[in-house]
Amino acid sequence: MERSIKITEDGSHTMFVHGLDESYHSTHGALQESMHVFIKQGLLTVKQSSLRILELGFGTGLNAVLTMAESISLNLDINYHAVEKYPLKESEYKLLNYEKVIEHLPKGTLHRMHSCPWGETVKISDRFTLYKEEADFRSMNLPSYFNLVYFDAFSPDKQPELWTDEVIGLIAQVSELGAILVTYSSKGVVRRTLSSCGFEVHKVAGPPGKIEMIRAIKR
Ligand SMILES: C[S@@+](CC[C@H](N)C(=O)[O-])C[C@H]1O[C@@H](n2cnc3c(N)ncnc32)[C@H](O)[C@@H]1O
Repeated sequence: MERSIKITEDGSHTMFVHGLDESYHSTHGALQESMHVFIKQGLLTVKQSSLRILELGFGTGLNAVLTMAESISLNLDINYHAVEKYPLKESEYKLLNYEKVIEHLPKGTLHRMHSCPWGETVKISDRFTLYKEEADFRSMNLPSYFNLVYFDAFSPDKQPELWTDEVIGLIAQVSELGAILVTYSSKGVVRRTLSSCGFEVHKVAGPPGKIEMIRAIKR
């Protein structure tokens, strides 16, 4: 997968995949988008202090480091399970500027998350563990029940095969009742698939540059 680093409008980095003509984040601002979609509409809406989070896919690690930074200020215990088929190389992740643009992120966190082994639970801080699963979303091996899901695949237009009953059904099987799933997409086909897999679907305000996104609850 040929890709290169790009700067987005809020000064934070994203990766751009040439073959797909698609970036990992909104060009309006990677940091703004992740903060809005996954932290504000996701993490901050879960009223539990112990969270088991599933992320599809890990990518740059931006959602993971933001979640860890929040876990420190909010005193949350977090087990974070991230799935990724195309991990970044060291030559790529060491260039990302997230430690410069995210306040209160302990130095070295992004490097520790990327360089830790795949397929093992690793303690990143006192209250945050990370398990990285190197797998295709269609054949994930998800071990436990999650109460928050960050669905961050490439867009349904570019990778429709990852927004199917098959993948969302797998997620539904490991989502506990009341679990929250957030994604930046608000497409009708995504809403219908989530609904048919047992999620109650809500359209909520999107990040800068996007009117709406989805926040769904497992019923
Ligand atoms: C929109 S990017 C989001 C990345 C990440 N959440 C971030 O903040 O950087 C989508 C991610 O899904 C990964 N991916 C694409 N196809 C996949 C597949 N079939 N199985 C697992 N991961 C995949 C990509 O490599 C990429 O990291």
